[in-house]
Amino acid sequence: MHASRRVSLVLAAVTTFALPTVAHSQQAAIYSSLDRFHPVIAQNGMVASQEATATEVGVDILRRGGNAVDAAVAVGFTLAVTLPRAGNIGGGGFMLVHLAGSGETVAIDYRERAPAASDRDMYLDAEGNADPELSRFTQLAVGVPGTVAGLALAHERYGSGTFTLAELMQPAIDLAENGIPVTGGLANSLADLRDRLTRWPTSAAIFYRPDGSDFDVGDTLVQADLAQSLRQIAEQGPAAFYDGPIGEAIVAELAQGNGIMTLDDLRAYEAVVREPVTGDYRGYRIASMPPPSSGGIHIVQILNILEDVPVADLGHNSAQTIHWMAEAMKLAYVDRSEYLGDPDYWEVPMAGLTSQDYADALRAGIDPDHARPAAEIGPGDPAPYESPQTTHFSVVDADGNAVANTYTLNFSYGTGLVAGGTGILLNNELDDFSAKPGVPNAYGLIGGDANAVAPNKRPLSSMSPTFVFDPDGRLFLVTGSPGGSRIITTTLQVIMNVIDHGMNIAEATNAVRIHHQWLPDELRIEEGLSPDTIRLLEGMGHTVVVRDAMGSTQSIMVTDGGFAGASDPRQPDALTLGY
Ligand code: DON
Repeated sequence: MHASRRVSLVLAAVTTFALPTVAHSQQAAIYSSLDRFHPVIAQNGMVASQEATATEVGVDILRRGGNAVDAAVAVGFTLAVTLPRAGNIGGGGFMLVHLAGSGETVAIDYRERAPAASDRDMYLDAEGNADPELSRFTQLAVGVPGTVAGLALAHERYGSGTFTLAELMQPAIDLAENGIPVTGGLANSLADLRDRLTRWPTSAAIFYRPDGSDFDVGDTLVQADLAQSLRQIAEQGPAAFYDGPIGEAIVAELAQGNGIMTLDDLRAYEAVVREPVTGDYRGYRIASMPPPSSGGIHIVQILNILEDVPVADLGHNSAQTIHWMAEAMKLAYVDRSEYLGDPDYWEVPMAGLTSQDYADALRAGIDPDHARPAAEIGPGDPAPYESPQTTHFSVVDADGNAVANTYTLNFSYGTGLVAGGTGILLNNELDDFSAKPGVPNAYGLIGGDANAVAPNKRPLSSMSPTFVFDPDGRLFLVTGSPGGSRIITTTLQVIMNVIDHGMNIAEATNAVRIHHQWLPDELRIEEGLSPDTIRLLEGMGHTVVVRDAMGSTQSIMVTDGGFAGASDPRQPDALTLGY
């Protein structure tokens, strides 16, 4: 890791040194951007993930002749071991794959599904009120996991054929079996989430010392049951999970409480290949995740609204730019609450939502000087926030194939429940459904019929693995982020920082982020905006609140002759590495 950072610094210095022909003002801008934040640079391939060992595993697969999909599959299984709060095989997610040979981009949907015995009102109490405990922390919260099916499908259809699934899983198996050194990030998150995990004896036995105390940094975390589960999948294929001993253990665990998942639910699970959502922004082409994620549609919608706004002239994070962005975000999130849901159950008006004409009409309603109160756009209540975890990784290879993958257990460690004997943490993804119309989920997101619970349905997501192609149609950017409802706006800002503000990928990653999701009616910002900008925004009627950092992007940009990547400094342990 350090060697590669050093190499990138040296390359950056050489580049800076070689700039005397650039016009003076341009030169100053380039100097300052290189001086402040340096991307990692490499020529042949690159992985950006939220955990260093997983990144190293992915780069090793690339070096040994694997393509971006092979590396992504290995990273996905490794993170289930090394980043247990978000990496998983008991959850689900979305993978975007770009195939250089055919030029095709496909979206793999491995989102969890509601069990067949689910019903619309299953998260309501006797008085008909939504009971968040049920949808977040009980066996009823667990969706049928999709990760194993998704990674296996990716390997089978889009892998290079150089590695078997078992070979790609071997690093994860070894790490689970031999143990991983507990990092600062892991130690802190286990200590923080102690209540969630120690409710379940199966989880407490793995994630805390035998005497019940917290691990220290440098201790070794062994996950022997997880190693065994991974080995069974490696040997028998996904059937070990969906129609074998692992599935049986999950069903038995859930049946000890109010769980309703059956082995038939697991048998029926399938990952689905879908068409990505696409749109254009200032000559660049965006490809991102379609429903059941809302991410792609709303990134495209917000960019469409901003297409005619002179964002570059107004300046990065100026009050005017933030105002336009916030007003556009509100309009997108109102539509999300009304129109977005699993497309197998609900007709999502995709073409309308992503059309430039619709966005032009929405823009016409924005007052350039005043914030529109959320109540004038639609009803709802502010909701408490959690600080949970999802994780994103990006991979590119020497042939130009690329993967953007975001997957999750929903909250950190999901329900916190490990299925006994499997070492597998189970998700609480079904809280992403709208438990009751108008009642916010854990991210303050509101929904209605489109995202109501139904048998076998997938809950609406915000996960937004995204590619950007340059005006010549060449792959330009691979990006995405965790962050619940903030995923969409975080990913959006990386794209805008690069396209509108000419930032390098490290600067685009580090820059202060803002977020508005219509309800709660507040403009959320990270620390670092000037008091003057905040005053101007308040003067326009925005309620500005400074909250925790948002997102953890892992991005790779394709440059002339190579790659420039950056991991988000907002979360510990991440690493971007190339070769
Ligand atoms: O699918 C979704 O939109 C959420 N379950 C994602 C949760 C998340 O990003 C938590 N992380 N920070």
